[in-house]
Amino acid sequence: MKSDLEPTVIVIFGGAGDLTWRKLMPALFDLHRNGRMPKKFSIIVVDRIAFPVEKLHKRFLQGVNRFSSKGSAKAVDWRKFSRNITYQQGDFKDPVTYSNLKKSFAKLDGDWKGKAGHIFHMATPPSLFGDIPQQLGAAGLNQDRTGSRIVVEKPIGHDLKSAQELNRILTENFHESQIFRLDHYLGKETVQNILAFRFANPLFEPIWNRRFVDYVTITVAEEVGVGHRGGYYEGAGALRDMMQNHLLQLLCLVAMEPMVSFKADEIRNKKVDVLHSIRPITSSEVRRVAVRGQYGPGTLLNKRVRGYRQEEKVSPRSKTETFAAVKLFVDNWRWQGVPFYLRTGKCLSRQVSEISVQFRAVPHQSFPSESKRDWSPSRLILSIQPEQGIAMDFQAKYPGPLMILKPVEMKFNYQDSFAIPSPDAYETLLLDVMKKDPTLFMRADQVEAAWKVLMPIITSWAKSTPRDFPNYAAGSWGPRAADDLLSRDGHAWRPMK
Ligand code: BG6
Repeated sequence: MKSDLEPTVIVIFGGAGDLTWRKLMPALFDLHRNGRMPKKFSIIVVDRIAFPVEKLHKRFLQGVNRFSSKGSAKAVDWRKFSRNITYQQGDFKDPVTYSNLKKSFAKLDGDWKGKAGHIFHMATPPSLFGDIPQQLGAAGLNQDRTGSRIVVEKPIGHDLKSAQELNRILTENFHESQIFRLDHYLGKETVQNILAFRFANPLFEPIWNRRFVDYVTITVAEEVGVGHRGGYYEGAGALRDMMQNHLLQLLCLVAMEPMVSFKADEIRNKKVDVLHSIRPITSSEVRRVAVRGQYGPGTLLNKRVRGYRQEEKVSPRSKTETFAAVKLFVDNWRWQGVPFYLRTGKCLSRQVSEISVQFRAVPHQSFPSESKRDWSPSRLILSIQPEQGIAMDFQAKYPGPLMILKPVEMKFNYQDSFAIPSPDAYETLLLDVMKKDPTLFMRADQVEAAWKVLMPIITSWAKSTPRDFPNYAAGSWGPRAADDLLSRDGHAWRPMK
């Protein structure tokens, strides 16, 4: 495939870090080996430490071989790609770093005989997200309204106030159309497929509302603990790290109204409408609608694992939550009265991200009671990962002389239906930045609206100390209170095998 993208320089701030190694470089390399990178491109990796370029290339190659969804790199492909990567040592707060970048840009423009577009990707700790755009602005590297772009990874802020402050700095230095706020969940194929499923099939939309849907659950469960990220995670926790962004994005896609066109702002407006419709939680309600948890030692995948408080850079008395569940209502015509339960946690029994739409029972039960011992109302499951697909649970007659009803499953999955592997989310998103398509990125108002939804919980949790932490064993499905949150309403999380 031939790419018609303009010549582009990608500057990665924090390029010696984990994100670049695990995600950005494998994605850029895969785009290159699939012929999707611009014909002329350069990747300038900026970081504070000294890093000989050969050593850097070696590390990136290891990252590609370990994390690329397309497998190891052929030597020839790696050579062609890696000759475009250079390293610049520099402090992110020092204006010299930016004047050096300007010199590199001028040289590339000369070599390429034309003006290149510039992408500034902040793969640094969030504490630097404010400094870099200011420095770029001071150096005039923000001036090209159509050519320069800035990419900010989630978390955007630490709470509503800091998100507003960061958005202020970003928009003071860049036009909103130049800012790409990245939540990698939006680049996942199965997440994008929610729109296709809902709005490209007339069958489901008529039943996608309070008349037919009883409740919705959204689960993003991880097997992994915090690993080496204890330092960051201690100040974040599950609400900020996952719920404010990934899970609320999923909720928006499930609950939004149909878009009128596929224009970026039209889709983003519809998503923001959902966040604005979420019933505000009062501080006195927090105990009833939100559950927090922290993992203790346990057994995961047949191995003993330590508890959160024993992890690196974690306080032995930490009150940071590694699990969060919330119950939300979307107050609009479509969803009035339908609870949305969201949960996420680390060190849970199994990795699974899914949305389960539980339909109401039939209005009148005409089958004799013995026929429906195993009966359960129909349910639709949108599997995000690791399983990728959609399944519908419904009732069927069990073979035999009697009318016995049993739930059965009708299934679509990506591997069986499509012969090609799905691109990694970062491939999709980095390509969209190069194409200047903001559809799958978060606008300032959306980020702030998401913070607003969770602020009462964040504030209330910060004020009190959870006496029962750790309250779930690594390898379990989280604290009991998360099950009670649903059972009080006569509901349940979808049982996981
Ligand atoms: C990141 C979080 O945004 O998403 C991590 O900071 C989390 O804590 C990760 O592990 C999960 O992403 P994925 O794609 O593995 O589900």
